[in-house]
Amino acid sequence: MLERAKEAPVDVLAWVDQRTQASGFLTGMLYRKVPKGTNWFYTLGSATLFAFIVQAVTGVFLAMFYVPSPTEAYASISHINNDVFLGQFVHGMHKWGATVMVILIFLHMGRTFFFGAYKYPRELNWVIGVVLLILTMTMAFTGYLLPFDQRSFWASIVGININGTGPVLGPYLSDFLRAGPELGATTLARFYSIHMLLIPGALIALIGAHLYLVVKLGTTAPPWVRAQRPKAAAAVSQLEAGGNGGAAPR
Ligand code: HEM
Repeated sequence: MLERAKEAPVDVLAWVDQRTQASGFLTGMLYRKVPKGTNWFYTLGSATLFAFIVQAVTGVFLAMFYVPSPTEAYASISHINNDVFLGQFVHGMHKWGATVMVILIFLHMGRTFFFGAYKYPRELNWVIGVVLLILTMTMAFTGYLLPFDQRSFWASIVGININGTGPVLGPYLSDFLRAGPELGATTLARFYSIHMLLIPGALIALIGAHLYLVVKLGTTAPPWVRAQRPKAAAAVSQLEAGGNGGAAPR
């Protein structure tokens, strides 16, 4: 009986695998070859992903107690910090986690830029990355208003006005964000909906596309490893890519 119970999780996994073929995909993904010279800088993308997951999980718990109304938002955050079990901890993780995610995304972008990973055939992944960056910054901006204290109120007015100075679309963007003549209840509702529904959904979809392309295309070797490639191999690969094989400078 005990032996059967021990086998149960394996049986369940096998049952799911037979119907999804997921193990083939997972094996291919986890055992894929990585280029020579792969180092700690390549963990920055996964670290950003981890920071996003922490934000999503802590955000779900905060949403259970947060009230997006100008009269109750501040009190609901005080309630989370002072009365709810582990509330201050979860709120602190979410607040500091936002800063951590922004720092990590910039470091990851720097890594891909300095390693030349934005070049062919990964341009689309770079473009998706730029959208991910804009969405992450919008996430941080919209989240800042939610406590609805003096600092978040005035900082959001400054942020909305800065958006308004943009060319052509600026005034429309600031009107859209303010959601009325003055920053108030409708602004808070709009920021909350963008912060916890619209952008997380878009982020999940785009991170999925980003990681699909990473697995499909593989990662770029560091520039110093690429520079060391044997001459003959470099010439052949350039010919394949339509180059002149290093025969004469163009
Ligand atoms: C939510 C944000 C993001 C997540 C979760 C994420 C995740 C990842 C992961 C896990 C990888 C695999 C290799 C690595 O970790 O370095 C990767 C690769 C890559 N990412 Fe991101 N990324 C994000 C944002 C960005 C941004 C902002 C850019 C650039 C604008 C970018 C551009 C790239 C490129 C070009 C690659 C391919 C790297 C290579 O071929 O070596 N990513 N990303």
